[in-house]
Amino acid sequence: MRKVLITGANGQLGSRLSEITLSNGDVVVVCDRERLDITDSASIERAMSEHNPHVVINAAAYTAVDGAEEEADLAHAVNAIGAGQLARTCADSGIDLIHVSTDYVFAGNQNEPYRTDAEPAPTGVYGHSKWRGEKAIETAFATAARSNAWIFRVAWLYDSRGRNFAQTMLRLGASGKALKIVNDQLGAPTAAGPFAELLMEVAQNPKLLRPQTWHYGTLGPATWYDFARAIFAHKEMVVDAIPCTTDAYPTPAQRPAYSYLDPYPLMQALGRNPEHWKDQLQRVL
Ligand SMILES: NC(=O)c1ccc[n+]([C@@H]2O[C@H](COP(=O)([O-])OP(=O)(O)OC[C@H]3O[C@@H](n4cnc5c(N)ncnc54)[C@H](OP(=O)(O)O)[C@@H]3O)[C@@H](O)[C@H]2O)c1
Repeated sequence: MRKVLITGANGQLGSRLSEITLSNGDVVVVCDRERLDITDSASIERAMSEHNPHVVINAAAYTAVDGAEEEADLAHAVNAIGAGQLARTCADSGIDLIHVSTDYVFAGNQNEPYRTDAEPAPTGVYGHSKWRGEKAIETAFATAARSNAWIFRVAWLYDSRGRNFAQTMLRLGASGKALKIVNDQLGAPTAAGPFAELLMEVAQNPKLLRPQTWHYGTLGPATWYDFARAIFAHKEMVVDAIPCTTDAYPTPAQRPAYSYLDPYPLMQALGRNPEHWKDQLQRVL
Protein backbone atom coordinates (compact mmCIF):
# COMPACT_ATOMS: atom_id res chain seq x y z
CA MET A 1 0.00 0.00 0.00
CA ARG A 2 1.32 3.49 -0.90
CA LYS A 3 0.03 6.63 0.76
CA VAL A 4 0.25 9.66 -1.56
CA LEU A 5 0.02 13.16 -0.07
CA ILE A 6 -0.88 16.03 -2.42
CA THR A 7 0.00 19.64 -1.63
CA GLY A 8 -1.71 22.59 -3.33
CA ALA A 9 -4.77 20.39 -3.74
CA ASN A 10 -7.08 23.31 -4.67
CA GLY A 11 -5.02 24.36 -7.69
CA GLN A 12 -5.51 23.46 -11.34
CA LEU A 13 -3.19 20.44 -11.18
CA GLY A 14 -3.77 19.67 -7.50
CA SER A 15 -7.52 19.31 -7.96
CA ARG A 16 -7.03 16.87 -10.87
CA LEU A 17 -4.59 14.88 -8.74
CA SER A 18 -7.05 14.86 -5.84
CA GLU A 19 -9.82 13.41 -8.01
CA ILE A 20 -7.90 10.33 -9.14
CA THR A 21 -9.31 7.13 -7.71
CA LEU A 22 -6.57 4.74 -6.69
CA SER A 23 -6.59 0.99 -6.97
CA ASN A 24 -4.55 -1.65 -5.06
CA GLY A 25 -5.46 -0.16 -1.70
CA ASP A 26 -3.26 2.91 -2.27
CA VAL A 27 -4.51 6.02 -0.48
CA VAL A 28 -4.54 9.73 -1.31
CA VAL A 29 -4.29 12.45 1.34
CA VAL A 30 -5.44 15.79 0.00
CA CYS A 31 -3.89 18.94 1.52
CA ASP A 32 -4.89 22.42 0.51
CA ARG A 33 -2.87 25.42 1.70
CA GLU A 34 -4.77 25.56 5.00
CA ARG A 35 -3.83 21.96 5.86
CA LEU A 36 -0.27 22.19 4.61
CA ASP A 37 1.41 25.52 4.00
CA ILE A 38 4.78 24.82 2.39
CA THR A 39 6.15 28.16 3.63
CA ASP A 40 5.59 27.05 7.23
CA SER A 41 7.96 24.33 8.45
CA ALA A 42 5.75 23.52 11.46
CA SER A 43 2.81 22.96 9.11
CA ILE A 44 4.93 20.62 6.94
CA GLU A 45 6.15 18.64 9.97
CA ARG A 46 2.62 18.40 11.37
CA ALA A 47 1.14 17.10 8.13
CA MET A 48 3.93 14.55 7.64
CA SER A 49 3.71 13.16 11.16
CA GLU A 50 -0.10 13.10 11.05
CA HIS A 51 -0.36 11.33 7.68
CA ASN A 52 2.95 9.51 7.37
CA PRO A 53 2.91 9.38 3.54
CA HIS A 54 5.23 7.28 1.37
CA VAL A 55 5.29 9.97 -1.30
CA VAL A 56 4.39 13.65 -1.65
CA ILE A 57 3.28 15.23 -4.93
CA ASN A 58 3.99 18.94 -4.65
CA ALA A 59 1.41 20.83 -6.71
CA ALA A 60 1.68 23.89 -4.44
CA ALA A 61 3.25 26.94 -6.05
CA TYR A 62 3.06 30.68 -6.48
CA THR A 63 2.02 30.79 -10.15
CA ALA A 64 1.21 34.45 -10.89
CA VAL A 65 3.94 35.09 -13.46
CA ASP A 66 3.37 38.86 -13.64
CA GLY A 67 2.43 39.20 -9.95
CA ALA A 68 5.80 37.69 -9.03
CA GLU A 69 7.58 40.75 -10.42
CA GLU A 70 5.86 42.79 -7.66
CA GLU A 71 5.75 40.05 -5.02
CA ALA A 72 9.23 38.60 -5.43
CA ASP A 73 9.58 37.74 -1.73
CA LEU A 74 6.35 35.74 -1.73
CA ALA A 75 7.22 33.94 -4.98
CA HIS A 76 10.60 32.91 -3.57
CA ALA A 77 9.08 32.01 -0.19
CA VAL A 78 6.74 29.49 -1.84
CA ASN A 79 8.59 28.28 -4.94
CA ALA A 80 12.17 28.28 -3.68
CA ILE A 81 12.30 28.24 0.14
CA GLY A 82 8.99 26.40 0.64
CA ALA A 83 9.78 23.73 -1.96
CA GLY A 84 13.22 23.35 -0.37
CA GLN A 85 11.93 22.86 3.14
CA LEU A 86 9.30 20.40 1.96
CA ALA A 87 12.11 18.50 0.19
CA ARG A 88 14.33 18.46 3.29
CA THR A 89 11.53 17.09 5.45
CA CYS A 90 10.79 14.41 2.85
CA ALA A 91 14.46 13.49 2.39
CA ASP A 92 15.04 13.30 6.17
CA SER A 93 11.92 11.20 6.71
CA GLY A 94 12.40 8.70 3.86
CA ILE A 95 9.45 10.12 1.87
CA ASP A 96 9.64 10.26 -1.95
CA LEU A 97 8.93 13.64 -3.54
CA ILE A 98 7.40 14.38 -6.93
CA HIS A 99 7.74 18.07 -7.74
CA VAL A 100 6.39 20.15 -10.61
CA SER A 101 8.39 22.86 -12.35
CA THR A 102 8.11 24.95 -15.46
CA ASP A 103 9.43 25.99 -18.89
CA TYR A 104 10.00 29.45 -17.33
CA VAL A 105 13.30 28.17 -15.93
CA PHE A 106 14.59 28.61 -19.51
CA ALA A 107 15.25 31.87 -21.34
CA GLY A 108 13.07 30.76 -24.26
CA ASN A 109 15.62 31.81 -26.86
CA GLN A 110 16.25 28.35 -28.34
CA ASN A 111 14.81 27.23 -31.64
CA GLU A 112 14.87 23.51 -30.92
CA PRO A 113 13.04 21.49 -28.25
CA TYR A 114 14.36 22.01 -24.73
CA ARG A 115 15.93 18.87 -23.34
CA THR A 116 16.55 18.42 -19.63
CA ASP A 117 20.27 19.06 -20.05
CA ALA A 118 19.65 22.57 -21.46
CA GLU A 119 21.02 25.26 -19.16
CA PRO A 120 18.30 27.10 -17.21
CA ALA A 121 18.43 30.89 -17.51
CA PRO A 122 15.17 32.33 -16.18
CA THR A 123 14.36 35.88 -17.22
CA GLY A 124 11.75 36.74 -14.58
CA VAL A 125 11.10 36.35 -10.86
CA TYR A 126 8.67 33.43 -11.25
CA GLY A 127 11.10 31.38 -13.37
CA HIS A 128 13.96 32.26 -11.07
CA SER A 129 12.02 31.18 -7.99
CA LYS A 130 11.07 27.86 -9.61
CA TRP A 131 14.68 27.25 -10.66
CA ARG A 132 15.88 27.94 -7.10
CA GLY A 133 13.24 25.45 -5.91
CA GLU A 134 14.56 22.76 -8.25
CA LYS A 135 18.10 23.29 -6.98
CA ALA A 136 16.96 23.20 -3.35
CA ILE A 137 15.22 19.87 -3.99
CA GLU A 138 18.31 18.40 -5.65
CA THR A 139 20.46 19.52 -2.72
CA ALA A 140 18.04 18.07 -0.16
CA PHE A 141 17.96 14.67 -1.90
CA ALA A 142 21.67 14.54 -2.83
CA THR A 143 22.45 12.67 0.39
CA ALA A 144 19.05 11.06 1.01
CA ALA A 145 19.50 7.36 1.66
CA ARG A 146 15.90 6.18 1.87
CA SER A 147 13.91 8.16 -0.68
CA ASN A 148 14.09 9.91 -4.07
CA ALA A 149 12.91 13.02 -5.89
CA TRP A 150 11.47 13.41 -9.38
CA ILE A 151 11.07 16.87 -10.95
CA PHE A 152 8.67 17.22 -13.88
CA ARG A 153 8.85 20.42 -15.92
CA VAL A 154 5.69 21.23 -17.84
CA ALA A 155 4.45 24.20 -19.90
CA TRP A 156 1.16 25.72 -21.05
CA LEU A 157 -1.12 23.79 -18.67
CA TYR A 158 -4.85 24.06 -19.29
CA ASP A 159 -8.00 22.26 -18.28
CA SER A 160 -11.64 21.92 -19.27
CA ARG A 161 -12.52 24.09 -16.26
CA GLY A 162 -11.01 26.73 -14.00
CA ARG A 163 -8.83 29.69 -14.96
CA ASN A 164 -6.48 29.03 -17.84
CA PHE A 165 -5.90 30.13 -21.45
CA ALA A 166 -8.44 27.69 -22.93
CA GLN A 167 -11.22 28.87 -20.61
CA THR A 168 -10.32 32.52 -21.22
CA MET A 169 -10.56 31.97 -24.99
CA LEU A 170 -13.96 30.28 -24.64
CA ARG A 171 -15.23 33.20 -22.56
CA LEU A 172 -13.80 35.93 -24.80
CA GLY A 173 -14.73 34.04 -27.97
CA ALA A 174 -18.36 34.01 -26.87
CA SER A 175 -18.36 37.81 -26.49
CA GLY A 176 -18.54 38.31 -30.27
CA LYS A 177 -15.62 40.79 -30.24
CA ALA A 178 -12.52 40.52 -32.44
CA LEU A 179 -9.63 38.96 -30.51
CA LYS A 180 -5.94 39.67 -31.01
CA ILE A 181 -3.96 36.55 -30.08
CA VAL A 182 -0.20 36.19 -29.77
CA ASN A 183 1.28 34.26 -32.68
CA ASP A 184 5.02 34.49 -32.06
CA GLN A 185 5.41 32.39 -28.90
CA LEU A 186 5.83 28.64 -29.33
CA GLY A 187 4.94 25.92 -26.84
CA ALA A 188 2.75 22.87 -26.48
CA PRO A 189 -0.68 23.05 -24.86
CA THR A 190 -0.78 20.38 -22.16
CA ALA A 191 -3.89 19.26 -20.29
CA ALA A 192 -3.74 19.03 -16.51
CA GLY A 193 -5.71 15.74 -16.27
CA PRO A 194 -3.38 13.42 -18.23
CA PHE A 195 -0.36 15.03 -16.55
CA ALA A 196 -1.91 14.41 -13.11
CA GLU A 197 -2.49 10.77 -14.06
CA LEU A 198 1.16 10.31 -15.02
CA LEU A 199 2.37 11.90 -11.77
CA MET A 200 0.09 9.62 -9.80
CA GLU A 201 1.33 6.58 -11.71
CA VAL A 202 4.90 7.41 -10.70
CA ALA A 203 3.79 8.06 -7.11
CA GLN A 204 2.20 4.62 -6.97
CA ASN A 205 5.00 2.87 -8.82
CA PRO A 206 8.30 4.69 -8.24
CA LYS A 207 10.25 2.00 -10.15
CA LEU A 208 8.55 3.20 -13.34
CA LEU A 209 11.00 6.07 -13.82
CA ARG A 210 14.48 7.06 -12.70
CA PRO A 211 14.40 9.81 -10.08
CA GLN A 212 15.67 12.84 -12.01
CA THR A 213 14.36 15.88 -13.88
CA TRP A 214 11.98 15.07 -16.75
CA HIS A 215 10.14 17.13 -19.34
CA TYR A 216 6.45 16.33 -19.80
CA GLY A 217 4.42 17.64 -22.71
CA THR A 218 2.60 16.97 -25.93
CA LEU A 219 3.72 16.93 -29.55
CA GLY A 220 3.93 20.40 -31.01
CA PRO A 221 4.84 23.16 -31.04
CA ALA A 222 2.00 25.58 -31.55
CA THR A 223 1.45 29.28 -30.93
CA TRP A 224 -1.24 30.70 -28.64
CA TYR A 225 -3.05 31.74 -31.83
CA ASP A 226 -2.96 28.13 -33.14
CA PHE A 227 -4.22 26.92 -29.76
CA ALA A 228 -7.08 29.44 -29.69
CA ARG A 229 -8.13 28.60 -33.25
CA ALA A 230 -8.21 24.88 -32.43
CA ILE A 231 -10.38 25.62 -29.36
CA PHE A 232 -12.83 27.70 -31.41
CA ALA A 233 -12.95 25.04 -34.15
CA HIS A 234 -13.58 22.31 -31.60
CA LYS A 235 -16.51 24.26 -30.12
CA GLU A 236 -17.70 25.31 -33.60
CA MET A 237 -17.40 28.97 -32.59
CA VAL A 238 -17.03 31.64 -35.25
CA VAL A 239 -14.55 34.13 -33.81
CA ASP A 240 -12.71 37.00 -35.47
CA ALA A 241 -9.24 35.91 -34.28
CA ILE A 242 -6.38 38.16 -35.37
CA PRO A 243 -2.77 36.99 -34.99
CA CYS A 244 -0.48 39.52 -33.29
CA THR A 245 3.05 39.74 -31.90
CA THR A 246 4.10 39.66 -28.24
CA ASP A 247 4.83 43.42 -28.44
CA ALA A 248 1.07 44.03 -28.70
CA TYR A 249 0.68 42.67 -25.15
CA PRO A 250 3.30 44.27 -22.89
CA THR A 251 3.43 42.40 -19.58
CA PRO A 252 5.50 42.98 -16.41
CA ALA A 253 7.25 39.61 -16.87
CA GLN A 254 8.88 38.70 -20.17
CA ARG A 255 7.30 35.67 -21.87
CA PRO A 256 9.61 33.00 -23.32
CA ALA A 257 9.42 33.11 -27.14
CA TYR A 258 10.16 29.39 -27.31
CA SER A 259 8.80 27.11 -24.57
CA TYR A 260 8.69 23.75 -26.28
CA LEU A 261 9.88 21.00 -23.92
CA ASP A 262 11.05 17.83 -25.66
CA PRO A 263 8.48 15.18 -24.64
CA TYR A 264 10.34 12.20 -26.17
CA PRO A 265 12.89 11.14 -23.50
CA LEU A 266 10.19 10.74 -20.84
CA MET A 267 7.82 8.91 -23.17
CA GLN A 268 10.62 6.65 -24.42
CA ALA A 269 11.54 5.80 -20.82
CA LEU A 270 7.90 4.79 -20.29
CA GLY A 271 7.67 2.92 -23.62
CA ARG A 272 4.86 5.20 -24.81
CA ASN A 273 4.24 7.73 -27.56
CA PRO A 274 3.66 11.41 -26.83
CA GLU A 275 0.18 12.62 -27.72
CA HIS A 276 -0.25 15.45 -30.24
CA TRP A 277 -1.58 18.58 -28.52
CA LYS A 278 -4.54 18.72 -30.95
CA ASP A 279 -5.54 15.10 -30.21
CA GLN A 280 -5.30 15.80 -26.49
CA LEU A 281 -7.41 18.95 -26.88
CA GLN A 282 -10.13 16.97 -28.69
CA ARG A 283 -10.10 14.34 -25.97
CA VAL A 284 -9.99 16.73 -23.01
CA LEU A 285 -12.11 19.69 -23.99
N1 LIG B 1 -0.43 26.80 -15.05
C1 LIG B 1 0.54 26.64 -15.95
O1 LIG B 1 0.40 26.99 -17.14
C2 LIG B 1 1.84 26.01 -15.55
C3 LIG B 1 2.83 25.90 -16.52
C4 LIG B 1 4.03 25.32 -16.17
C5 LIG B 1 4.24 24.84 -14.89
N2 LIG B 1 3.27 24.99 -13.94
C6 LIG B 1 3.54 24.46 -12.61
O2 LIG B 1 2.58 23.46 -12.34
C7 LIG B 1 2.30 23.43 -10.94
C8 LIG B 1 0.81 23.50 -10.70
O3 LIG B 1 0.32 24.72 -11.26
P1 LIG B 1 -1.23 25.07 -11.29
O4 LIG B 1 -1.54 25.56 -12.65
O5 LIG B 1 -2.02 23.95 -10.71
O6 LIG B 1 -1.21 26.32 -10.29
P2 LIG B 1 -2.41 26.92 -9.42
O7 LIG B 1 -3.70 26.61 -10.04
O8 LIG B 1 -2.03 28.35 -9.17
O9 LIG B 1 -2.30 26.11 -8.05
C9 LIG B 1 -1.29 26.33 -7.12
C10 LIG B 1 -1.83 25.94 -5.77
O10 LIG B 1 -0.78 26.14 -4.81
C11 LIG B 1 -1.36 26.63 -3.65
N3 LIG B 1 -0.40 27.34 -2.82
C12 LIG B 1 0.12 28.59 -2.99
N4 LIG B 1 0.95 28.88 -1.97
C13 LIG B 1 0.96 27.79 -1.15
C14 LIG B 1 1.61 27.49 0.07
N5 LIG B 1 2.43 28.37 0.67
N6 LIG B 1 1.40 26.28 0.64
C15 LIG B 1 0.56 25.39 0.07
N7 LIG B 1 -0.12 25.63 -1.07
C16 LIG B 1 0.10 26.82 -1.68
C17 LIG B 1 -2.47 27.56 -4.12
O11 LIG B 1 -3.36 27.71 -3.04
P3 LIG B 1 -4.60 28.72 -3.06
O12 LIG B 1 -5.63 27.99 -3.87
O13 LIG B 1 -4.95 28.83 -1.64
O14 LIG B 1 -4.10 29.98 -3.68
C18 LIG B 1 -3.02 26.78 -5.30
O15 LIG B 1 -4.07 25.93 -4.89
C19 LIG B 1 3.11 24.56 -10.33
O16 LIG B 1 4.31 24.05 -9.81
C20 LIG B 1 3.41 25.47 -11.50
O17 LIG B 1 4.62 26.20 -11.30
C21 LIG B 1 2.08 25.54 -14.26
